[in-house]
Order: sequence, then structure tokens, then C-alpha cells
Amino acid sequence: MKNKIKWGIIGLGKIARKFAHDLQLSNDGLLYAIASRSEDGVRKFQSEFPAQNMYTNYEDLLDDPEVDVVYIATPHSHHYPWILKCLDSGKHVLCEKPICVNADQVAEVIKKQKSTGLFVMEALWTKFLPAYEHLQQELRKDGEPVLSLSADFCYSSARQKGSRIYEPGLAGGSLLDIGIYPLFLALDILGVPEQYHVSGWVDQGIDVRVSAVMNYDQGRSALVYSDVQSMGHMDAVIRKENKVYVLPHRWHELDYFHEIGPDYKVRHDFPKTGWGYFHEIEHVNECLIDGLNQSPIYPLSWSFSLARYMDGFRESLNLSYPANIEKI
Ligand SMILES: NC(=O)c1ccc[n+]([C@@H]2O[C@H](COP(=O)([O-])OP(=O)(O)OC[C@H]3O[C@@H](n4cnc5c(N)ncnc54)[C@H](OP(=O)(O)O)[C@@H]3O)[C@@H](O)[C@H]2O)c1
Repeated sequence: MKNKIKWGIIGLGKIARKFAHDLQLSNDGLLYAIASRSEDGVRKFQSEFPAQNMYTNYEDLLDDPEVDVVYIATPHSHHYPWILKCLDSGKHVLCEKPICVNADQVAEVIKKQKSTGLFVMEALWTKFLPAYEHLQQELRKDGEPVLSLSADFCYSSARQKGSRIYEPGLAGGSLLDIGIYPLFLALDILGVPEQYHVSGWVDQGIDVRVSAVMNYDQGRSALVYSDVQSMGHMDAVIRKENKVYVLPHRWHELDYFHEIGPDYKVRHDFPKTGWGYFHEIEHVNECLIDGLNQSPIYPLSWSFSLARYMDGFRESLNLSYPANIEKI
């Protein structure tokens, strides 16, 4: 029997649970170790998703010689320091989005990734969904350009003390948490814009809502929107001259999309496995088995580009986080 890749998870919150669920479905990987800052946290998680080893601090998991790759599921502010610590401990890394708070930090991660030769990837899971992969093939098929797209990611959440979304010290706000998805879609489908215009509302140190128009040649455009205080349809629409692709509600976790022409409508179905994190997990496993230290599908240069635009959007809104979490 071949050895499975041994995963460790640090930060046992909401997304870590979904990830651990999907890791149980993996062909080549297994949940080997978990670490929480609290005894209660690690015990509760262990009862839901049993792991061989459990730790009450993250460093001990990094010292576990059996752990091959660490999934970082902490708040945004804690990604950068923990990526560096993982690399210093000889661990490969899959880090939740956004991989870092700003592009300078991503550049440092890239430097360290190169010098250690270890694998690092941002967990931009949408990129690996079967329906998204198929969408990209469909878009390329007729050779015709995409003329415009619009995508939103919005939900309504009350401002609560302690919520990571409303905490500047954890790099909260809509853009880094959810606006990253529509921005990713625009860059992935339309590429680098000639210019962009951003508006939004910053309240108590976080961006509640952000909208941006990104302009391309020949009047092509992307309209992206994120909000943590309004409901949204959370769909994406991609337009060509003679057809439109509609990615339905919660488009970032899509199982299907519609292709609509002047006199037809086709539904393309490509269901995801588990919560959908299965696909990025299997991709990382394959990369590690093949000895790759970057993903050929979603390399760190991509994460850098995404971070650069998020920096630019924040600059337009005059929004920066406390110096201690922006520093490199
Ligand atoms: N890919 C997706 O679909 C998706 C969905 C949601 C969130 N995310 C991303 O996943 C990450 C975590 O989000 P989440 O919703 O899972 O957050 P969460 O429920 O608040 O969990 C984050 C965990 O990080 C740990 N942590 C370490 N330092 C912390 C600090 N100073 N304050 C609070 N928690 C701290 C805690 O775990 P311990 O107490 O166990 O140490 C906490 O439970 C974020 O980067 C977010 O953008 C991704």
C-alpha cells in the first residue's frame, strides 16, 4: 500500500471543519495532526474529525516530523507569519485565502518558497472545481472574446464584537474575505485591466462594501462587488457577442452553469465532491507526489497579482490595517 500524504491543520474554526470533512474523501491524503490554541478546541475537533496527533499549540504540530503539509485556516492576519514558520519547519503549505494581507508579504513568501524548495499554494478552491474548469474550456471553445462580466459576493452579517470580519486587527472586511472571489474571476477570465475605479464604504477600520469597475480594451469591462451588510444574488454573468454564461447563486462554489444563446439554453452540470475542497486537496496531493513546489494551475505569481489588486483597491479606499499585520 502506498503511503498517504500526511496533513496537519492549524486553526480549528469553521472552514477547517469543511476541509477536514473533504480530506476524509481524499485518495492520496489523510488528516494526520490538528492544532488549536485551546485544549477544548482541539478535543472537540478531534471528536468530529479524528487525527493521529493533536496539539494545543501550532508550533508543536510544526515540530511533528511526520507532518508533510500544513493547511493554515487561521484569520487573514495570521497567514503570513505561519506560512514562514511552516517553511522554516520544512513543511509544505496550503494556506487559506487571502494568502497574505498585502502583496509585499506575498513577495516575501515567494522568496522563501524558492529558497526552501517547499510547496506553497493559496487555497483559491473555486479554480479547482470541475464546473469551473469546464467553464474555462467552454469560454475558450469558440475563440470569441468575453466582452464583459459581473460578479458579486454579498451577505448580511450584524457587526459583532469578536467577529473576524469586523476586526481590523485580523484584516477583516469584505474585500479580503469575499471580494477576492469576484476579483479572481475578473482577472482569470478577462486578464489584467487597463485601469480600474473603486468605490466603497470603510467603517471602523474595515471595508463594509466595495465595488469596482475594471476596464479593458474595446470597452470591455468587469464589475465586481462585495458586501458584508447586504444580501446579494451572488451570481456571475459572463457575456460574449452571441451568448451569455450564467453562474447561479453562490457562483464561487458552482456545480453547474447555464449557457444561453439567442434561441437556446444549455445547462452544464459538473457536481463537486464533498464541500468542494476535495478538488484543491487532490491537486495539492498530486503536486506533492510529482515533486512540484508550485501549482501549475494556481502558482504564487497569481496570488501576488491578486494581492496587488487588493492593495490597489484598498489604497483607493484609503484603508490600511494596523501596522503590525501589514509588516513584512
Ligand atoms: N475557502 C472557503 O470557502 C473559505 C470559507 C470561509 C473562510 N475561509 C478562510 O478561512 C480562514 C478562516 O476562516 P473561518 O471562517 O474558518 O474563521 P474562524 O471560524 O474564525 O476560524 C479561524 C480559527 O483560527 C484560529 N485563530 C488563530 N489565531 C486567532 C485569532 N487571533 N483570533 C481568532 N482565531 C484565531 C482559531 O482556531 P483555534 O482556536 O483552534 O486555534 C479559529 O477558530 C480565513 O482566511 C477565511 O478567509 C475560506
